[in-house]
Amino acid sequence: MGIGIGFGKVILFNEHFVVYGLPAIASAIGAKTTASVERRPGSGVELIDNRRETKGYKSEKFDQQKESLDLMLKFMNIDITRNAFKITLAGDLIAASGVGASAASCAAIARAFSGELSLNYSDDKVNEVAYEGEKGYHGTPSGIDNTAATFGGLIWYKREGSSQLMERMKLKKPVEIVMGSTGIVADTKVVVAGVKERKEREPEKYAGIFKIAERLAHDARRQLEAFHLEEVGVYMDQNHELLQQIEVSSRELDMLVDLARNNGAFGAKMTGTGRGGYMVGLTPGRDLQERVAQAIEKKGFQALRTTIGV
Ligand code: MEV
Repeated sequence: MGIGIGFGKVILFNEHFVVYGLPAIASAIGAKTTASVERRPGSGVELIDNRRETKGYKSEKFDQQKESLDLMLKFMNIDITRNAFKITLAGDLIAASGVGASAASCAAIARAFSGELSLNYSDDKVNEVAYEGEKGYHGTPSGIDNTAATFGGLIWYKREGSSQLMERMKLKKPVEIVMGSTGIVADTKVVVAGVKERKEREPEKYAGIFKIAERLAHDARRQLEAFHLEEVGVYMDQNHELLQQIEVSSRELDMLVDLARNNGAFGAKMTGTGRGGYMVGLTPGRDLQERVAQAIEKKGFQALRTTIGV
């Protein structure tokens, strides 16, 4: 049996902007998806998905998951008309929008096939396969999710034409965050297409917002690496405002972001696709993390207590 993992992630700065070549910052979180692949007699693929989910996630993503798997199998040159496989997904990463669930599953599946078929994939090759798989969910992925899912850690990521730049970043020590779930499943393809359409309709407005987002990523990186967490929080707040301006936030996300800030988070923003999914609050120290997580739970939403920069 081949076994593989993919890391869950949080985007700290510049989701959506990253699709257009701007730099972004993402970190692995302490939860993973695992995949196992077993060869079977006959032909075809059976996929058993044992991941815990935000209600409705698996059924809403069913077709995209199938498309993603077909793309990966084709890219890996695996012919399922003459071979059969059973794929099982599990792990402690919840299947939800905003935590990199699709990318983590793609990286895990690529690694599990590599193990089962002795393909000896390097991490770079796993990342290429996972990128193909992400096309099933995203249409035109920037590549940040599969890169974070494959390599883990804290990364600076930028797409440059058809190539990608990834730099590893270091934090002095891991920092606690809280991720609050809206409980709403988002469709990345649809939300990304919406940004494209508005950007084409209002080029000047969007050029202005994109210019600020570009500078913000560089400033935030400097403050993160200097471990100036209060300043990092301010940049997260500003990044959320830019994401509101390109209309990818939502009432629920804005409410959770305000709640986190009012309970002492150094900064808070939506994360990932938006229009649902998760927000993230920067909450250094166990006490602050607990206070913010409990405030979110008291309102009836789920809170994930985790860390960045591990
Ligand atoms: C989704 O996790 C991140 C987006 O920026 C899309 C992408 O980068 O492909 C919204």
